[in-house]
Amino acid sequence: MAHYFINDESIKSEEKATKAIIQGNLFTFWTDHNVFSKNGLDFGTRTLLESIDMTSIHGNVLDFGCGYGPIGIFLAKYGLTVDMIDINERALHLAEKNAKINGVVASIFESNLYEKVTQKYDYIITNPPIRVGKKVLYEILIGAKDYLKENGELIFVIHKDQGAKSAARDLEEFYQVKILQKNKGFYVFACKIR
Ligand SMILES: C[S@@+](CC[C@H](N)C(=O)[O-])C[C@H]1O[C@@H](n2cnc3c(N)ncnc32)[C@H](O)[C@@H]1O
Repeated sequence: MAHYFINDESIKSEEKATKAIIQGNLFTFWTDHNVFSKNGLDFGTRTLLESIDMTSIHGNVLDFGCGYGPIGIFLAKYGLTVDMIDINERALHLAEKNAKINGVVASIFESNLYEKVTQKYDYIITNPPIRVGKKVLYEILIGAKDYLKENGELIFVIHKDQGAKSAARDLEEFYQVKILQKNKGFYVFACKIR
């Protein structure tokens, strides 16, 4: 089976519109083959977004591994300044299209890990890729601290069967880790640099 994070033009394109209500806001998200959660909003992503208190979050945000764009687009709806990155070109095309049809502005660009990221953020928010393996996953999660402002926060979701507890333990060396939400095995962690 093809991995959703590998660019593969041989996989036919068949875009389809999906809908999601997140914290009371209705979104339309176009998805496609070879893009994460092509049937619509992933439950882990939903758990992540529903766990954020939108009255207390301000500033600029990096949506790491944006896919077709649900995280960054949701946050941009609340007036945050949003950058969205992914390695998958099809996902980036959809994220651009979805930002437009949902009436938000975001800076959306290709980046392998943080290669093209040039600034620091108040928040890095992600439903990180798991199939890339633990080494790359930790490059994303631990690497985030170099792109966070002094009081910045990494917020991410991970399932217990994908190593939620060990990830939280391993990240304690670099961050103060707090559980924001637990739902059906998904953990949302908020991490502040030590
Ligand atoms: C679990 S998906 C989440 C997608 C989207 N944020 C969502 O919640 O539906 C993880 C995303 O990370 C992207 N990704 C994988 N490896 C990456 C890398 N090295 N650099 C940037 N993005 C990567 C994948 O293409 C995928 O879109």
